[in-house]
Amino acid sequence: MTSVIKYMSLMTTCSVFAALISIIWQAFISLKHLNKMTSILTGLLAIESSLKRPLQPPKVAVGYGACTDLLIHATDFLNYTEELVKGVGPEFTVDEVNDRQELLQTFAYYFKNGAAAERIMPNTELFKELIQIAKSRHLNSIQWFLGGNAPLMSTRFHLEGANVLLGARMSKKLRRLVPAEIKIAGDEIPEDDIHLILEYKSGDTWGPFVAPRANRYILHSDRNNPHLNSVEHFDAAVRNFQPRLLVISGLQMMDSYKFAHGVREARLLKVQEQISLQSPTTLQHFEMASYVEIELLQLLRQYVLPYVDSLGMNEQELENLRQVLTKGRTTLATDWNPRVATALDQMRDVFQILAQDYYRNSTGLPHRRLLTRIHVHTLAYQALLTVRDSQWERTQIAAAKAALTAHRHVCQTDMINPESALLILDDSFATTAQNKDTASRIQLNPQQPVPCWNETIVVNDQKSLPIEICVAPVLVCRVAKKTAGAGDNISAAALSQQL
Ligand SMILES: *[C@@H]1O[C@H](CO)[C@@H](O)[C@H](O)[C@H]1NC(C)=O
Ligand SMILES: *[C@@H]1O[C@H](CO)[C@@H](O)[C@H](O)[C@H]1NC(C)=O
Ligand SMILES: *[C@@H]1O[C@H](CO)[C@@H](O)[C@H](O)[C@H]1NC(C)=O
Ligand SMILES: *[C@@H]1O[C@H](CO)[C@@H](O)[C@H](O)[C@H]1NC(C)=O
Repeated sequence: MTSVIKYMSLMTTCSVFAALISIIWQAFISLKHLNKMTSILTGLLAIESSLKRPLQPPKVAVGYGACTDLLIHATDFLNYTEELVKGVGPEFTVDEVNDRQELLQTFAYYFKNGAAAERIMPNTELFKELIQIAKSRHLNSIQWFLGGNAPLMSTRFHLEGANVLLGARMSKKLRRLVPAEIKIAGDEIPEDDIHLILEYKSGDTWGPFVAPRANRYILHSDRNNPHLNSVEHFDAAVRNFQPRLLVISGLQMMDSYKFAHGVREARLLKVQEQISLQSPTTLQHFEMASYVEIELLQLLRQYVLPYVDSLGMNEQELENLRQVLTKGRTTLATDWNPRVATALDQMRDVFQILAQDYYRNSTGLPHRRLLTRIHVHTLAYQALLTVRDSQWERTQIAAAKAALTAHRHVCQTDMINPESALLILDDSFATTAQNKDTASRIQLNPQQPVPCWNETIVVNDQKSLPIEICVAPVLVCRVAKKTAGAGDNISAAALSQQL
């Protein structure tokens, strides 16, 4: 009997002891994690603060368009309806959303893939009805913001100390949301286009689906933006302004929009004219977006890509662009968390193909520019590729700035708390997945968290180009407050370090 009691008490002691060890071990692990996050954060902040501000604020012009963003929590707003959603397989595609079923199906598809999406709703009646439902049933949870890539990027450039010119037509009401120092080229319109932004958090559920990451699904039914009506207003203003950087964005509003025959191409020709006539001292950046139509992407390749020095995009847009350039087709949702090696290979492919275009046709078409910068923003890291000795300097600072901005935007805070951050990037990554012989492994050193290295890209038999690549880990925001506009904020923040 006593031996049983003794045995029991030994067991109790043992399990108490085991529990204690486990608690200490857990604390040790989380302390180690916190330590690492703090080191990385300190390292990123040190790189960010090493930027010496130029005496003159750089001039930046940003086109085209503006809208009001109506932000709403996706899973509260959309009613999951099984009979409408069924039949959404992995190859599901819908270019435009015409009815409730297409809305729920496309949403389901992107939600379960955690992929950002932007779709046009030509059915203006349904769109108005949705806005009405949002305004009446969700009055206390909806939020209104200044929207559109150009105004968001402008605001970030302004916050980084630039002198900014924005090309957009907007209502008086919306103008009040633009910082007063930003000059606006474009007349006043009575009513702004509205974008309905359905945001969701990582782990949100909708019917049987669970979102693998925070992201958003955007619906719009624009009347003003697809026509890029501000291009003309912007023209003369940019000529007088003589910016150091001209940013082209918002062209995705032309995607799937029903233009009269030839109208879209004529508008893009106007954009081409605008960007091809800028002085060589004006750098040009094109911000990609979620494009669906292959035809539009091909028009961009013809009218826009040959004239820009820099491209910004997320992981899906990168894969999409690479597919268009190599295979002439697009993909829909791709891996939401691609490995660094994969993304870098895609960046090299895009760079190589556009450089080949440039050297092949540099004599044929005047005003063409060699692409010298690609910035890819992903949830886990920021990757920047620049041509060495081009006009883009301080690539490392730009990458660090982008990583910090990603956290600040998504958590909506200027002070980063390491406890509210998560590291998704591994402790080390390969530089390429294509060629085992040339691949090297880069260890992420928390004290110097932004590794940069040199490479050479072979363009053709005669031409090779020296490039620099920098990768910065993102301190991923644990509880996302806002993902819409993150790319704009991040891209503009990074560019502003390199002017
Ligand atoms: C969701 O269902 C409620 C109740 O039936 C309805 O009032 C609301 O309009 C629906 N929401 C949408 C976006 O269809
Ligand atoms: C190069 O220019 C020629 C005509 O000047 C054109 O036909 C061809 O499509 C261009 N190639 C590319 C890849 O842009
Ligand atoms: C960009 O991020 C900052 C935090 O650094 C945030 O205050 C701001 O609201 C963001 N911009 C937009 C347009 O959301
Ligand atoms: C890359 O090359 C440049 C020019 O040769 C050199 O100054 C720089 O230190 C190199 N960067 C790295 C990370 O090796």
